Amino acid sequence: MTEQPPTFSPQLLSGKRILITGGGTGLGRGVARHLVDHGAEVHLWGRREAVLSEAAAEASASRPGSVHFHTVDVRDYDNVDETMGRIWDDHGPLTGVVNNAAANFIAQTKDLSPRAFSAITSTVMNGSFHTTHAAGRRWIADGLPGSVLSTLTTWVWTGSAFVVPSAMAKAAVHSMTMSLAVEWAKYNIRVNALAPGPIPTDYAWEMLNPTDKSSVGATQADQIPAGRTGTMAELANLTMFLLSDACDYLTGQTIAMDGGQMLAGPGTFAGLTSLSDADWAQIKETSKAASESSKAQRSV
Ligand code: HXC
Repeated sequence: MTEQPPTFSPQLLSGKRILITGGGTGLGRGVARHLVDHGAEVHLWGRREAVLSEAAAEASASRPGSVHFHTVDVRDYDNVDETMGRIWDDHGPLTGVVNNAAANFIAQTKDLSPRAFSAITSTVMNGSFHTTHAAGRRWIADGLPGSVLSTLTTWVWTGSAFVVPSAMAKAAVHSMTMSLAVEWAKYNIRVNALAPGPIPTDYAWEMLNPTDKSSVGATQADQIPAGRTGTMAELANLTMFLLSDACDYLTGQTIAMDGGQMLAGPGTFAGLTSLSDADWAQIKETSKAASESSKAQRSV
C-alpha cells in the first residue's frame, strides 16, 4: 500500500513543540516528518548522533530548522531531566511528548539473562516514566497544558509469548497512562497511548522476524483481518489527531489500530511455540548481529 496524502490541515499542529523519543529510527522517525508537514516543531531523542542527524534532516526537508535532535539515553533519569531542561531554556516549553523509544527482540523467556530483561524493560518502562515525569513536572510548575502519547502494543491486553519483557513493560506504561490521566487532568495534561499493529520498519522487523522459521509471529499480514500491515501515514494521522487540540476531552486511553488483528486472536508471537531450540539459537545469532551493528553507531 502506498503512503496516503495528508488528510489534515497543514496548520493542524502549528505552534506545537513535540518531543519524540527513539526518533532516529523506526516509527518515531517516520511520524516526525508528518508532524513537521503539519506545522509542528519537533525534537528527536536517540542514542546515535549520526542517525539522529540524518533523521532530522529528512524530517525537516519541507521546513528547514523545524527539527532539533539530542543524544539521550532515556534509561538515565539525570540525562533525561538535564536535556529536558535545555529544551525548555533554549527552545521553549514542549506541548507534547511521544514516548516511542523501545527495545525488543524475540527469545525464549527461559534463556533471557537479567541484563537482557533489564535492557528492554528499562528502556520501555523506565524511559517512558522518566520522559513523562521530566516534562510533566515542568508543565505543572509553569501552569501549561501538555499531552503525553506512548507507543504501546495490543500485548498490553493479551500478553505475548516470546516477547515477555516488552509485553510486561508496555503493560506498565498502559497503567501509567490510566493513572496519570486521572492525577494530571486538573493540570490540563492529557495522557494517552497507541497500540499499533505491525507496521514494517527496518530494525524492528529484523528483531521480530529474524529468520524464515520465525515468520509465524505477529508481523505477518495473513494473520490480520484487514489483510495487510499498517502504514506510517495511518499511524501519523492518529498521532497528529491525538496531539492536536481536536480532542482535549480524550485522556487515559490506549487506542488499538491493528486492522482487527487483536480481536481475531493471533496478534502475538504464540505461533512460535512450535520452534525448536536449534531454531531459537539461529534466531538469537541473527538478531544479536543486527543489534551489535546498531550499537556500534551509538554516541551515548
Ligand atoms: C537474546 C539478547 C539479544 C537477542 C541482546 N541480548 N540481544 N539476548 N537474544 N537477540 C542480551 C545481551 O546478550 C545482553 O545480555 C543483554 O541482552 C543486553 O544487551 P546489550 O546489547 O548490551 O543491550 P542494549 O545495548 O541496551 O541493546 C538493547 C537491545 C537493542 C534491545 C538488544 O536491540 C536495542 O537497543 N534496540 C532498540 C530498538 C528496538 O529494539 N526497536 C524494536 C522495537 S519493536 P548478557 O547477559 O549477555 O550481557 C517493539 C514492538 C513491536 O517494541 C510490535 C510489533 C507488533
